[in-house]
Amino acid sequence: MRINKYIAQAGIASRRKADQLIADGNVFVNGAVLKEPGYDVKEGDVIEVNGRKVETQTKKIYLALHKPVGFVTTVKDDLDRPTVMDLLTDVEGRVFPVGRLDYNTSGLLILTNDGDFAYKLTHPKHELPKTYRARVAGVLSREKCARLRRGIDIGGFVTSPAKVEIIRAYPRSTIVDITIHEGKNRQVRKMFKAVGNNVQELHRTAVGNVRLGHLAEGHYRKLTREEIDYLKNC
Ligand code: URA
Repeated sequence: MRINKYIAQAGIASRRKADQLIADGNVFVNGAVLKEPGYDVKEGDVIEVNGRKVETQTKKIYLALHKPVGFVTTVKDDLDRPTVMDLLTDVEGRVFPVGRLDYNTSGLLILTNDGDFAYKLTHPKHELPKTYRARVAGVLSREKCARLRRGIDIGGFVTSPAKVEIIRAYPRSTIVDITIHEGKNRQVRKMFKAVGNNVQELHRTAVGNVRLGHLAEGHYRKLTREEIDYLKNC
């Protein structure tokens, strides 16, 4: 099995992240740094990632976490800020976040130890819809909503059609639901900025048809069989 797939199946990282780990010289095979990204793992090989031996896992874990603001979605943070991993108290096995949410964004984050599942879900070609509730500064006119719906240039990238629904309009801010189909870095914040309304609060309510619902902040639950099947097949 190809090394990136092996690392992904062991629940260490997605396949793409595994490629990065290899490129950064963090993967060792039988004691030597791996130089060949397409290496095929052989029976008896000892694989180490970041100095830890890779144990192949079999039981797959799929979780939905309500991420609070003030947590990063990486497994380890260079600035030593709290990570979403700190919230997972009794998970048997090592999971990692599927995609990411900004430090200042709250809401639904899916975690798994299934590297193939994570790879598929974050692959641009799947364009899984993600829904956010945002509070933005100022008034969001119909014309601005139409521009956001059509697709907007966020600096070298034009977003694909989005769903935009105003939930509540205050004199100085607007609550709005937005559903996007890509996962560019800080995409929602950039989209609203592009129409002149900065995001003040951002919360993800759904990934595809998986909803956060009433899950309390900082808490997590297992995805249901139906949710897992839906995400695997979408
Ligand atoms: N878009 C953003 O701007 N931030 C997020 O955390 C997610 C989507």
